[in-house]
Amino acid sequence: MSTAARPLVARRPAGPLTGRIAVPGDKSISHRALMFGALAVGETRITGLLEGEDVLRTAAAMRALGAEVTHDPDGTWRVAGRGVGGLTEPADVLDMGNSGTAARLLCGILASHDLFAVMTGDASLRGRPMRRVIDPLTGCGASFTARDGGRLPLAVQGAKDALPLDYRVPVPSAQVKSAVLLCGLNAPGITRVEEPEATRDHSENMLRHFGATVQVTLVGTGRVIQLHGQPELIAADVVVPGDPSSAAFPLVAALLVPGSRVTITGVGLNPLRTGLLATLAEMGADLRIENQRTEGGEPVGDVVATHGPLKAITVPPQRAPSMIDEYPILAVAAAGAEGITRMRGLKELRVKESDRLAATAAMLDANGVRVEIEGDDLIVHGMPGGIPGGATVTTHMDHRLAMSALIFGLAAEAPVAVDDAAFIDTSFPGFTALMDRMGARLTPT
Ligand code: S3P
Repeated sequence: MSTAARPLVARRPAGPLTGRIAVPGDKSISHRALMFGALAVGETRITGLLEGEDVLRTAAAMRALGAEVTHDPDGTWRVAGRGVGGLTEPADVLDMGNSGTAARLLCGILASHDLFAVMTGDASLRGRPMRRVIDPLTGCGASFTARDGGRLPLAVQGAKDALPLDYRVPVPSAQVKSAVLLCGLNAPGITRVEEPEATRDHSENMLRHFGATVQVTLVGTGRVIQLHGQPELIAADVVVPGDPSSAAFPLVAALLVPGSRVTITGVGLNPLRTGLLATLAEMGADLRIENQRTEGGEPVGDVVATHGPLKAITVPPQRAPSMIDEYPILAVAAAGAEGITRMRGLKELRVKESDRLAATAAMLDANGVRVEIEGDDLIVHGMPGGIPGGATVTTHMDHRLAMSALIFGLAAEAPVAVDDAAFIDTSFPGFTALMDRMGARLTPT
């Protein structure tokens, strides 16, 4: 994003947070709906698509690769796909903005198309590691040239006749798994991916939804996924649920601001995404799930969060993949909890939109909360009697850090400012207005 910085301040509201709200569509599912739609034959209709900056970059990239992507006034998006292997060479550089998911998944698609493409992103994305997808994808016959350390911009010459991959993902990453599967769509035979720990399975679910054959075998805590290559993907309608990673912000706000009760409707409850809900429940949070149902092949429900005391726990490392994006806001909840919360095994947080491990610790520290990083663990000393606040948080182009700091400000004794709230639009357009409607006080500095 090239917009000017938008500083914002959060103050403790005069009363409780209340209301029945819906959060924007799931970011992971939105990217995939556009990509699979572009690789299918026929017209895919998507409702509830997240119209945030990250996803709009994916839409633009699919257009640049030859798919037709339009949206109706009622919010329905339509993708006229080109079929597996049918995308065409883009005439210009593909700019994926702030989005690691868009960039890495797109690498998978490009690797098995016989075309040349160049990809870049904003300063945050240009600092993030791409080697984790370049290394496996090179095995299909594609050649990548990237900056030092495997950083963007990169250039790719996709394989003419791609080979199927057999890859064990060394880090728990749904992006890497998905990049390999997307590459495998245009390779003959079986593409096999092994993940030592199960990560979000939206790609697998959506591949099946579009007609591909995917077998998943559970192996210990991990999974082996086998995709039968070169299927004919058939356009299918996709209903995108509310993003549980976005719901996390108003939810934790309701838990921390006295007297609050908030219902968030239509939240995606895929079991590989609900680690935060499990963790908060263990901390004693008053959370209820109502109206559980299945929409578009994904479990969905309404989450009711009511203010009450929280107690510290140790969050095991195995839970990290199911709540990897939620640690900054969990750290805010931990700051208001009784006792010392230890979040274990957060290595992957260092390579998100920012070094989220360091940035989350810095956010709490600047606002008067005692915090330590020990190895890959984050330790937060809760202050149930009142979290101080009073600082301006540097957000490092990271939307989730900005939202976490603002929620902190709603619960703190002194206002908390963020240097730049502009990046919130990457995942949660309308965040400020929605929080204000619940009774929050977010104002420009
Ligand atoms: C995502 C996977 C996760 C997550 C990101 C979205 C996805 O990244 O942090 O926000 O849609 O596959 P990693 O695969 O790097 O863990």
